[in-house]
Amino acid sequence: MKKIHVSPKKNCIKKIEVQGDKSISHRAIIIGSIANGITKVENFLEAEDTLNTIKIFRQLGVKIVNEKNDYYIYGNGLKPFREPNETLYVGNSGTAIRLIMGILAAQPFTATITGDAQIVKRPMARVIEPLTMMGAKFISNNGYAPVMVQGNNLNGITYKMPVASAQVKSSIMLAALYAEGVTEIIEPVKSRDHTERMLKYFGAKIVVKGKSIKIFPGSELKGKKIFIPGDISSAAFFIIAGLLMKKTRITIKNVNINPTRTGIIDIVKKMGGKVIIKNKKVLNNEPVGDIVVSSSKLKGTIIKGNIIPRLIDEIPVISIAAAFAKGKTIISDAKELRVKETDRINTMIKNLKRIGIKVEEKEDGMIIYGNNGTPFKYADIDSFSDHRIAMAFSIAALVSDNGLLIKDTECVNTSFPEFFNILNNL
Ligand code: S3P
Repeated sequence: MKKIHVSPKKNCIKKIEVQGDKSISHRAIIIGSIANGITKVENFLEAEDTLNTIKIFRQLGVKIVNEKNDYYIYGNGLKPFREPNETLYVGNSGTAIRLIMGILAAQPFTATITGDAQIVKRPMARVIEPLTMMGAKFISNNGYAPVMVQGNNLNGITYKMPVASAQVKSSIMLAALYAEGVTEIIEPVKSRDHTERMLKYFGAKIVVKGKSIKIFPGSELKGKKIFIPGDISSAAFFIIAGLLMKKTRITIKNVNINPTRTGIIDIVKKMGGKVIIKNKKVLNNEPVGDIVVSSSKLKGTIIKGNIIPRLIDEIPVISIAAAFAKGKTIISDAKELRVKETDRINTMIKNLKRIGIKVEEKEDGMIIYGNNGTPFKYADIDSFSDHRIAMAFSIAALVSDNGLLIKDTECVNTSFPEFFNILNNL
């Protein structure tokens, strides 16, 4: 098990770039594989999660070639894939397993899909239920992976989603492309919309009105060139670093600033953080910009309601900012944190206590009592093999008295293998 000691830092004026967006990278492989013709993917995130997705589509018979830094996908349209002769393995990725189940639901064969020790503990019933309504059949381990998917001819459905989840929504949308008739999905709260944007960019007929999404099957998806912008969930660690470290300004270039992902910017501004966005542009239907952050005095805040899906993956590192702020921060309506790579309410609270922070656990969130800029206490941090916990506490180490020892850091490779290199460079 790899351990890393991260030391405190200050005085940093730097321009950095983070790796490509994970959600968009998965979708580029998946949608490129069901499009007709060649899709060229630039700045693809080469991390464990997304490389597993490539491997799965190769097992399904799609030619995917890596040349220099680009990936070329030779898609055959919505024609059936090749029946795989092994179990498909997503590693740690909830996005991969749930989205690919949507594709498998429409294939004329049966395939089994599973993942690592964390994946087999995450709920799959949330996708099995709507995909069963569409006509596919499943055998699962009581709603958990491994899941055997028996594909079928699907029919369109109207589905009112019980939880705000982009993974569930996207799984249904992908299945809907193969279905007979229109599918309508109604979200309780708007979640990230990369699938809607990318499908439109590839030529699918999708109509979004507020929280309703209608998918009209029948239009051909055409292979495209796609540039993957920087991941705001990876940028998040350096946004918080820039705010907490003294005499610091960090510019993070070419980050995806899709409004369904920028909850962190709204919250840190509300906390008193100095953040500006420069050089805005649109690339393949996704907004992109440079995020500039500088040292700030932060105050506690309330984080709840519709903003939660817009910052769900950033809550671990926002909690570090809250712990260093003046006053208390209340996080609620975030029960979904309990079914991420780990139960993040629990794993954050355990580690926050170790660095000397008072926290109260709630069923759907937590209350963090900020220490008003007092350096965090030295501690051993257990990431519980959760990449975002390991990275969030590496940022806490930058403003600690003697650094922090982060245990079990290999998990960072699932989403952001360059993380420690960029951190060391600050
Ligand atoms: C993702 C959606 C979110 C997010 C995950 C990536 C996606 O999960 O937490 O890291 O790419 O669609 P849910 O959709 O389950 O909330």
